[in-house]
Formats: sequence, structure tokens, C-alpha cells
Amino acid sequence: MSNIIDGKAVSLEIKEKLKERISAIRSEGRRVPCLAVIIVGDNPASRSYVRGKIKAAEFTGMDSRLIELPEDVSERELMDTIEALNGDAGTDGILVQLPLPRHISEDRVLDAISPAKDVDGFHPVNVANLWLGRPCFIPCTPQGIIRLIESTGEPIEGKRVVVVGRSNIVGKPVAKLLLDRNATVTIAHSRTPDLAAVTREADILVAAVGRAGTITGDMIKPGAIVIDVGINRTSDGHLTGDVDFASAAGVAGWITPVPGGVGPMTIACLIYNTLHAFEEHYGAKRPGEFEGYAPQ
Ligand code: GUN
Repeated sequence: MSNIIDGKAVSLEIKEKLKERISAIRSEGRRVPCLAVIIVGDNPASRSYVRGKIKAAEFTGMDSRLIELPEDVSERELMDTIEALNGDAGTDGILVQLPLPRHISEDRVLDAISPAKDVDGFHPVNVANLWLGRPCFIPCTPQGIIRLIESTGEPIEGKRVVVVGRSNIVGKPVAKLLLDRNATVTIAHSRTPDLAAVTREADILVAAVGRAGTITGDMIKPGAIVIDVGINRTSDGHLTGDVDFASAAGVAGWITPVPGGVGPMTIACLIYNTLHAFEEHYGAKRPGEFEGYAPQ
């Protein structure tokens, strides 16, 4: 049986540390960091993610603002909301929950967020800086994946990694972070011929395609570290990953469960990035000096 990578436990450790740091800021009499979360419409999955983010902020003692806009809000109104938050000295981090309704351009909205408050790391300036190896906000899910791999104690350097999925949010940035750690990285995807032959080469396999059961046990190299980023809802309402856990758990050396793997890490890293934004706002740290999560 594989070792389980407990994302809930690792994320709790991170949140406990963040809580201590925020408590220290409070006891110095300083303003505490504040995260603004904007949600448009009432997509139940998005609502549930946003609730998790606000709850995590509360847990750590961070201030938060939840801004709920109706499904039919105009792009202009959303932009005005973002611009007001950009100019608000009491707001350190801004997150617009994705996806957005079809009448709103995701690109224009992400471009409108100040790069200095872009705690998701989705603004083109942060994306460019990530790829250039310069200080930036590291996107939360990829950052969480790296922390989970590190939690196994296994080195990343020199490993063969296969990332299945090429999204801007997960696949592409996590591949870059792994490359920075001297792994040999392959990005595969839904159109890769003979995907199993590729994934069987992986010492570390990251599944981020968004389709349940894409990775089965026979596609995994025995002893590999398997990180399941998928959050798919089954017809009976349960959450399941991109990896078929039942067949994978006997083959992988380490595996993340769904739920309780990558999901809680994304949230912990968001709070981490918001504290990072706050510290840089006050010049307490130089960009990139925040606990080693620079791209390297
Ligand atoms: N939707 C799914 N994942 C994410 C994320 O990491 N950030 C935002 N803003 N929206 C998402």
C-alpha cells in the first residue's frame, strides 16, 4: 500500500505558522494583512472554494473581504471594483474566483489586478517573472504541489517528472517550478499518444487534466510519487481526482488523496502569498526573499 501524502496535515502546519506571524504583526500594533475575494454569480463549486479561502483567512487571523457580485454584473463594474481595491491601502491581496461568466473577459479582468496584489500569480507580469526566474507570486496550486512533494522527504533534483495537463493555472507553472528544482520535466496532455507509456517513465507524476480516472494503476511506475490535482464530482455527488485511487494506491510509493490532498494546500498557499504581499507592501522583505519560495 502507498504512503498517503496528507495535504490537510501539511496545510495545517503552514496555516499554524502563518497564524503565529499574523499574531506577531497584531501584537506589534500593526494593521493585519487583508485578502479581498471577489466572486461573480453562484456557481456552487466556486462558492465552496471561496468559503474555504475566507475560512482559512479567519483561521490565521488575517482580515478578509468577500465581494459578491451578481451573475449579470457588467465587466466595467467588475473592473471598477478591482481598480478600487488596487488603490486601497488596506487591501494586500486580490483574488477573482474563476471561472467568470461568459460575457466577461477573463484576460481583461486578470490584467486589471495590480501585479503587487495578484496573490493568485495569474497576472501576465507575474507569469512572465515566473518563467524568467525572477521574484513573483507563485500560483497557489503549483506552490502547494511542490510543498507536498517536499513533504515526502524525497529529492526532486534529478527525477523524471511527468505533468499531465497544460493549463495556465496548474500544468504549465508546476512544470516550471519542477524544472527550477532540476527535475527532467515532460508535459503531457489529453492529446498525447500512448499516454501510459509516457506516465510510466515518471518518478513523480502530477495529474492535472480535470477528468476522473485518467490515470490508472497500470500507468504508474512502481514507487512513484503521484500528485492528484483533479477535483471532479461524480454523479452521486462525491469528489474524485484524476487518478483512479483504488488501482493506483497499490503501485505508487506516495499518493495524494482527493479530497484532502492538493485542495487544502492551494488555500494555505493563498494565505501565504497574501502575507507575502503585505510584507512587501511595507518593505519588510525584498521581493523574492520570502522564505525561499522564489522560483529559484
Ligand atoms: N478557480 C479554480 N482554481 C482557482 C484558483 O486557484 N484561483 C482562482 N482565482 N480561481 C480558481
